[in-house]
Amino acid sequence: VDTSEAWAASIAHEVIQPLSGIITNASACLQMLAADPPNLEGARETARRTIRDGERASDLVRRLRTVFGKKLEMTESVDLNEVTRDAVALTRSELQRAKVQVRMELADKLPRVTGDPLLLHQVMVNLLLNASHAMSGIEDRPRRLVVATARDAADRALASVQDNGVGIDPDGKDRLFEAFYTSKSNGMGIGLAVSRAIIESHRGRLWAKPNRGPGATFSFSIPMAE
Ligand SMILES: Nc1ncnc2c1ncn2[C@@H]1O[C@H](COP(=O)(O)OP(=O)(O)O)[C@@H](O)[C@H]1O
Ligand SMILES: [Mg+2]
Repeated sequence: VDTSEAWAASIAHEVIQPLSGIITNASACLQMLAADPPNLEGARETARRTIRDGERASDLVRRLRTVFGKKLEMTESVDLNEVTRDAVALTRSELQRAKVQVRMELADKLPRVTGDPLLLHQVMVNLLLNASHAMSGIEDRPRRLVVATARDAADRALASVQDNGVGIDPDGKDRLFEAFYTSKSNGMGIGLAVSRAIIESHRGRLWAKPNRGPGATFSFSIPMAE
């Protein structure tokens, strides 16, 4: 799968935005300082915005580098149950803080897959955190997350993360996996796009479905190791 050109274009776009913000803000800051009397409060606020834009750009580049700067090591035999347990352990304190109850339903005889455990771990962490975010505003019911693995009918390893949060926004449902699509004020919108690229590079699939009740389920499946 070569999506690198499309990626390069959208990354360039997304990095240039905060960079032009930095230039504009820094010039405004100089003007405020040069005024008589200098507008110190305005300059401070503008400097803060400059820092925020800088952090946004570097955060973006850093996250993308973990995926694209790393040569994919597709040689390891990976146990998705182990990946799932590690990802839940890593996010446990954050999920606790968000008052999310986690249930794990891990399959006994899960086929191993060939791939990169670190990247698969990253996909799982993404799905867990998205699920937690989707439940952050829910107050009328317990926030429940079910992480499951299974062997599907075609002997693929399947993993899913189910939440009972706000559910998939019908206006955004076709754009969930697009790079830079986000419904969050502080979101980056690259988690699902990167996750899908990772799963597809493992010859697998990643998809989302609304639940019968409230919330959504995100799943991926990967063919078993040869
Ligand atoms: N579990 C979920 N329930 C409902 N919507 C979700 C869920 N996970 C992701 N989404 C939607 O998909 C968007 C993109 O997700 P993602 O690519 O991870 O970026 P981000 O988390 O930065 O917004 C989210 O902003 C949200 O609108
Ligand atoms: Mg996300």
